Amino acid sequence: MTDRFGRIIDQLRISVTDRCNLRCRYCMPASGVKLLRNTDILSFEEILDVARAAVGMGITKIRLTGGEPLVRRGVVHLVEKLASIDGLVDLAMTTNGTLLAEHARSVADAGLQRVNISLDTTDPHLYRQMTRCGDIRAVLAGIRAAQAARLHPIKLNCVVGGLLAGSDALSVKEFGRTNGLQVRIIRMMHFERGVFSVVEGGRGGDCRRCNRLRLSSDGSIRPCLFSDVFLSVRRLGPSKSIRLAVAKKPQAGGPCAHQWMYRIGG
Ligand code: 5AD
Ligand code: SF4
Repeated sequence: MTDRFGRIIDQLRISVTDRCNLRCRYCMPASGVKLLRNTDILSFEEILDVARAAVGMGITKIRLTGGEPLVRRGVVHLVEKLASIDGLVDLAMTTNGTLLAEHARSVADAGLQRVNISLDTTDPHLYRQMTRCGDIRAVLAGIRAAQAARLHPIKLNCVVGGLLAGSDALSVKEFGRTNGLQVRIIRMMHFERGVFSVVEGGRGGDCRRCNRLRLSSDGSIRPCLFSDVFLSVRRLGPSKSIRLAVAKKPQAGGPCAHQWMYRIGG
């Protein structure tokens, strides 16, 4: 699919849940996290209907996100079904890594090709502070499990801003270098102000080259992370919502009403 500005749209990011076992400061508020009701969250069948329609329309890459995708029960089964869609060439997941020690082997066997793992610092104390509850040892074990399961390439997502200093990013880069992992540096985003910038080592944040659509866990196709436009797949059906989202994809992102990433999906 090509949008109004000549960009080829070939990637769909699917948020499979708004839940997470961490509480990262830049992703969720300290209190008053508003979780969706179970009936609002798309079933695997509904997600698969959207994915099949999307691939039929020219999407070739799918990334599963959350919240934390590995907290959704049965996600291995979803991976297996997605992997069998004819025409899909790339199937990836963005995860906080804390549950990979347990699940890397099964998602790899189900057909997941690669993972992006969030790691903003190598300092255990700062990691706990940033995630409000996380244990960095779980992530490190998850990274090793992903390597053992031959998920490849493994990329580390490293956010810089707020408590997270440039020196933390440097430590993550060094960790990446010694462990054969690519590191992507992401400046902290502020949705209400429309603040975002190009991801170092990735292609996010560069509106001119944006190739993405998003599907939120409650079934909205969003043409842009920094826009309030969304199309409901339950109301419009998969094909129409995808077509309209491509037609309405803005030239560039700007300030928007939502504040937190967990509601939309990385
Ligand atoms: N700014 C930058 N990145 C964010 N993420 C979530 N919220 C933000 C934010 N406000 C990203 C992190 C994490 C991924 C799941 O979502 O990069 O790795
Ligand atoms: Fe969870 Fe990822 Fe959000 Fe952190 S950034 S709270 S790990 S979804």
